[in-house]
Amino acid sequence: MGKIKKIGVLTSGGDAPGMNAAIRAVVRTAVYNGIEVVGIVQGYKGLINAEFRPFSSSSVSDIIQKGGTILKTARCEEFKSPEGRKKAYDNLKEAQIDGVVVIGGDGSFTGARIFNEEYDIPFVGIPGTIDNDIYGTDYTIGYDTALNTVVEAVDKIRDTASAHNRMFFVEVMGAEAGFIALYSGIATGAEAIFIPETKGEARDLKKMIETGNRRKKSSNIIIVAEGDEEGGAFAIAEKMKDDFKDFDVRVSVLGHLQRGGSPSAIDRVNASRLGHAAVEALLDDQKSVMVGMLNGEITLVPFRKAVKLHKDVNRSLVELAEILSA
Ligand code: F6P
Repeated sequence: MGKIKKIGVLTSGGDAPGMNAAIRAVVRTAVYNGIEVVGIVQGYKGLINAEFRPFSSSSVSDIIQKGGTILKTARCEEFKSPEGRKKAYDNLKEAQIDGVVVIGGDGSFTGARIFNEEYDIPFVGIPGTIDNDIYGTDYTIGYDTALNTVVEAVDKIRDTASAHNRMFFVEVMGAEAGFIALYSGIATGAEAIFIPETKGEARDLKKMIETGNRRKKSSNIIIVAEGDEEGGAFAIAEKMKDDFKDFDVRVSVLGHLQRGGSPSAIDRVNASRLGHAAVEALLDDQKSVMVGMLNGEITLVPFRKAVKLHKDVNRSLVELAEILSA
């Protein structure tokens, strides 16, 4: 028998659709390998407060299709301090937990990386965030579902925009990154897309809209990433409105509805693969690594790289969006 006999699993940071599918895969892979598994409630908070629940195969029945996370999640300040991490370590030792799977984003992996520099209980990460902004993986859990949610919402906004000849500024999530904005903008045929990765689009917007309206477009949809340097959709609409006096301008901020809902098939399948791979990684004595996906294959990326390096959007897609929106 290897040295991993019992593992814990937690979700941390913003929830994302597909996290439950990953939890299920972690639990069932552990059970398959004869390892005990506990659910840690509310992310790192649960580590610090020893909120551990013994899990069996049936604990994760009927969750693969559910959004949110059955383990609950939190952003935990206390884990950022050495005292907080010491408490977490003592609780893990006391509960005889030999390894932890962390499902979360780069903030969660930063905490896991520091913990693994200080203590010998291995942490392995699974990228879970709708923002898709983690280096070393093409895919993060929840991004596909969130993207489809945005596309559905923008299609609906397009209907009313066309009916009234309106210009809509639609703000989408993504934190500091523009993946949701860029992909949803292409998928909905947006007239312009504002993302943090590109500069100075505001100066071109007038040109873009004028080009489009030479052939009398009945609606204009401008997708704005919440992290854009020009500010959110309200700020940009305010700055632009004098340039577009002929248009009836409206703003729509999609907000947290982007994080909810039943995960897409892609999110369920990929989360299942990553959950399985995370347990395999612990069994292979890995620590301080994230399991990711590149070109459809599972990869291992050190937390050090996943959190430090920047994942850029595909610049050719920015150009594509401009060409197709004319
Ligand atoms: O990281 C996921 C995310 O939904 C971001 O897109 C967004 O900026 C942030 O979380 C919102 O966080 P909160 O739910 O804490 O307001």
